[in-house]
Amino acid sequence: MGELTEADRELMLMAIRQLEFAYAPYSRFHVGAAARLNDGSIYEGSNQENASYPLCMCGERVALYNAAVYKPAQPVESLAITIKNQNMRIDKPVSPCGACRQVISEYEFRHKQAIRILLKSDSPEIYELRSVEDLLPLGFNGTFL
Ligand code: THU
Repeated sequence: MGELTEADRELMLMAIRQLEFAYAPYSRFHVGAAARLNDGSIYEGSNQENASYPLCMCGERVALYNAAVYKPAQPVESLAITIKNQNMRIDKPVSPCGACRQVISEYEFRHKQAIRILLKSDSPEIYELRSVEDLLPLGFNGTFL
């Protein structure tokens, strides 16, 4: 955390705060996310589970959809994601699931701007990715439709 810029530290702290608001009684795996838009505003999200398991919604997507409904014209500049597994310590940054990679990719495509991704788990190390393309190469997007 100490090596992050002030703005990135603030973003990651907001993602960490979101861990408290996750609703994850089934998996006990909490995910917090915070998206900073080009105008500097920050929109947060956490995972929201359901007894009907396929309805569970990932924290990254809640944050991105939250940003999209309030600031549809603002590109997402950075997305901080963190996790807390209530059952065990996780010592390396956890990376977004495939569905979330596809959704992050959609917002890059929508705004024609790369989204920086910061990943943190229990260990102090943070991974920084310059774009979702680092996680989802050769992705499917609207250019094919
Ligand atoms: N989850 C996320 O919020 N983001 C991911 O990228 C992976 C999984 C959530 C969904 C579910 O509530 C819990 O973590 C366990 O899969």
